[in-house]
Amino acid sequence: MLKLLDEQIVPYDSSSGLYATQSIVENGVIGVGDQFLAGAQDYDDRYVGMNAMISKLRGSFDIAKFDRQDVENILDIGCGSGNATMALATMFPDAKIVATDLSPNLLEILAKKTRATGIDDRVSCIIADASTIKLKPQSFDIICGSSMLHHLDDPEAVLNGYISALSSDGIGLFYEPFHVGYFVLRQILVGLIHLAKFNKGIPEADIAVFNTLIYGIDFVSAKDRSDPVLKNLDDKWLFSREMFKRVAEKNSRTLFVYTANPAHEGYQDKISNMLFSVTGNHPDWPAWAVDYFKDIDNAERGELANDVLMEGCIVFK
Ligand SMILES: C[S@@+](CC[C@H](N)C(=O)[O-])C[C@H]1O[C@@H](n2cnc3c(N)ncnc32)[C@H](O)[C@@H]1O
Repeated sequence: MLKLLDEQIVPYDSSSGLYATQSIVENGVIGVGDQFLAGAQDYDDRYVGMNAMISKLRGSFDIAKFDRQDVENILDIGCGSGNATMALATMFPDAKIVATDLSPNLLEILAKKTRATGIDDRVSCIIADASTIKLKPQSFDIICGSSMLHHLDDPEAVLNGYISALSSDGIGLFYEPFHVGYFVLRQILVGLIHLAKFNKGIPEADIAVFNTLIYGIDFVSAKDRSDPVLKNLDDKWLFSREMFKRVAEKNSRTLFVYTANPAHEGYQDKISNMLFSVTGNHPDWPAWAVDYFKDIDNAERGELANDVLMEGCIVFK
């Protein structure tokens, strides 16, 4: 399995069963935020869900009509604690999986899961930087990157490298946030903050969170990327379809892009979930805010969710 990587891989820690690239061993882990290091267990508890991931992957295979049963080699890049790794291992019980991430803490959690489920003989957990990892061309049948491209400095260049490491009948699956949907969310937050000036019921602390979200959306989607602060942020990008189209064209692949947000999830749910992930509290919306959200959520119909992408599925075949 390790031969599919075009660089030297060495054992990192025999007790956890992790491997690492030689450069990680020499230079250490650089460029991953604390939420993925000290906060690894919390990340796993909050965000990892096997059944949801299996249906997301199944949806992507269906859209691209990918029904190969003979999948041999899978790469899960930026795998974290194995959200997609464990799902792919279940869906392809004979495949070998290379699971890489920059956080040893998250990989340790994944390695424990692979041992507990008896799949550690076919899943290799490797500490590697997704920006510089060298992959053998045409070597993987499936490459999955779930919510990791937006952490990288130059996702387009890196993504081109991943797609050229796919076998000719392979498939690349990525799940990422899009600017267009987040811009709409931003405008909804602006409206909510404005209404909250004349209506009671939303705590000041929550308004402060909304303002930070608006600031964050504006900051990462600014055209000028020269601000050095961007380099130190975990979340560096909101994407447009254009970048993925260029990568598909360059690599002569067919591209599918569609919404990853469940049909029943409206902006009220989305904003409630964001608030919960920051404050740990489920908001108790006043009636006027519920009416405001209802007006927006009930107006969304049909293909709009695919046009105004928020979380998007990106599939290369
Ligand atoms: C939002 S999490 C997604 C994790 C996992 N794929 C999932 O779906 O739960 C982003 C992951 O990207 C990893 N990451 C960030 N920058 C990276 C880099 N340069 N190289 C490898 N992994 C990186 C983080 O450690 C983290 O595990």
